[in-house]
Amino acid sequence: QGNLNQLAKAAGKLYFGSATDNSELSDSAYVNVLKNKDEFGQITPGNTQKWQYTEPSNGVFDYTQGDVITNFAEANGQILRCHNLVWHNQLPSWVSSGSWTAAQLTDVINAHIASEVGHYKGQCYAWDVVNEALNDDGTFRADVFYNVLGTSYLPIAFKAAAAADPDARLYYNDYNIEYSGAKATAALNIVKTIQAAGAPIHGVGFQGHFIVGGTPSQTDLTNVLNSFVALDVDVAYTELDVRFSSLPANAAGYAQQANDYGAVVGACLAVSRCVGITVWDFDDKYSWIPSTFSGQGEACLYWQNLTAKPAYYKVQSLL
Ligand code: XIL
Repeated sequence: QGNLNQLAKAAGKLYFGSATDNSELSDSAYVNVLKNKDEFGQITPGNTQKWQYTEPSNGVFDYTQGDVITNFAEANGQILRCHNLVWHNQLPSWVSSGSWTAAQLTDVINAHIASEVGHYKGQCYAWDVVNEALNDDGTFRADVFYNVLGTSYLPIAFKAAAAADPDARLYYNDYNIEYSGAKATAALNIVKTIQAAGAPIHGVGFQGHFIVGGTPSQTDLTNVLNSFVALDVDVAYTELDVRFSSLPANAAGYAQQANDYGAVVGACLAVSRCVGITVWDFDDKYSWIPSTFSGQGEACLYWQNLTAKPAYYKVQSLL
């Protein structure tokens, strides 16, 4: 019984939240669920704060679409996790294909972050400052940032974000770091690198894009969270969904999915510095999974018709 955000807060968390996207806000049945801050006390813009939207060409900034989501959250009394500043994907080609010197790309990063974080100053509880810097084997992704600047782009980005909004909680965010292994170890090293450079980092976001039956155990999830907390950072699940790798799903599958969501909720509850959980949308109708992972889906807490799955009731019962 009870609404998810209210239950999460009663359990000592800051929020239970959801991502959303601009096109979804014209669906009134969906919006009626999303806008209830007792259910979703936190919103993440799923796309429109990304670089391709906010600085489509050099020095040309556009926050009109991002503002639609941030205004929605504020109107409904919901906390904002802002997403994201430096990422290899959804990055305009003027950045990714530019032939930059280190000094030039540093200026580009600084100008982008000063403008965007400055625009949203005071509105973002947290910023995903750097997203997905790592390959799955724990090496650095050879994107334009790493190729030109090496790991120095990490503290550059975090310092710029702190300068533009000293009150925002600054996060490193990635996937496949939720369980122990080379990538989680590499993410721990990212935190240490940023700290050693004298830049602020306040949290690590664990995206949590899992597969039914393949979700890490609650014990492993908890141990990994604790290994980050030992570096004195907050932790959060920032993009949780648990997809079926083949469809259609059956009753046993929905029960497994419920247990998988439950492992993640249990891990966050077990770690006091796990501040909250964000689902990467709550309704299968708007899940990013089918368009990215062909043939996969049904990853969300609600079916397309906005009725709650067993996973929803599992999350509710654990919170
Ligand atoms: C996804 C969006 O949900 C999609 O609409 C878009 O086409 C691609 O990006 N990791 C992230 C998110 O950090 O920004 C991604 O969002 C999903 C994976």
